[in-house]
Amino acid sequence: MARKLAAGNWKMNGNKAAISEATKLAEMFPVPKVDVLLCPPLTILAPMADALSDAKIAVGAQDCHAKPSGAHTGDVSAPMLVDAGAQYVILGHSERRTDHGETDQSVAEKTQAAFTAGLSPIVCIGETLEEREQGEALNVVGRQLAGSLPDASDLDKLVIAYEPVWAIGTGKIPTLEQIAEVHDFMRTTLLERFGDGAAAIPLLYGGSVKPGNAAEIFATSNVDGALVGGASLKADDFGGIISALEAA
Ligand code: PGA
Repeated sequence: MARKLAAGNWKMNGNKAAISEATKLAEMFPVPKVDVLLCPPLTILAPMADALSDAKIAVGAQDCHAKPSGAHTGDVSAPMLVDAGAQYVILGHSERRTDHGETDQSVAEKTQAAFTAGLSPIVCIGETLEEREQGEALNVVGRQLAGSLPDASDLDKLVIAYEPVWAIGTGKIPTLEQIAEVHDFMRTTLLERFGDGAAAIPLLYGGSVKPGNAAEIFATSNVDGALVGGASLKADDFGGIISALEAA
């Protein structure tokens, strides 16, 4: 029911020369059977969007401010991202929650700003290793899901990414049973809150997704795609993940 989406999060990696990886990916997938997205650092968002303007690959950002404009030195707003060519924005990534003290409340405000600007927000949630070991994973995910989404969410635009903090950049992933448990829980929770329309919200898994483990992750219940960090930087690696999603 939900759209399938392979999203690449380049984090603070990549310069103008790296745009060639994006154009290479576009040549590998002239008409992808799933939605494909790259979220480069802000400095190359506009040139990457220009380079992909004839391609079927979308470009997104990794954060935005909750306000549309104003005296907020160093920040960038959702309408500015649209102006630069973005269609998506990653919000509430665990690295931003940790590095910049983002809270569920601030993520909800940014998510609302993204909807207002016409962007698709990819709202990230996920437990720490300590929380999982204490048996708190579903409680944490439930609390973050409740707090990070505004009531007036645009279900046609919303994307959720479950990223266990301990799986990000570590090479460790949860068992497929653990991924299924969280994804089934997220779907049920979203259906209860938003009604039938929540069946179409793409639920991405993120954290150490590689070409070698993508197929089994995509075969897992209620997994509609992936948010990929390290393995999205090279077209060949990300291409393997996109192919696995197309085949799922
Ligand atoms: P990773 O990062 O694929 O490098 O683990 C995922 C993410 O943080 O989005």
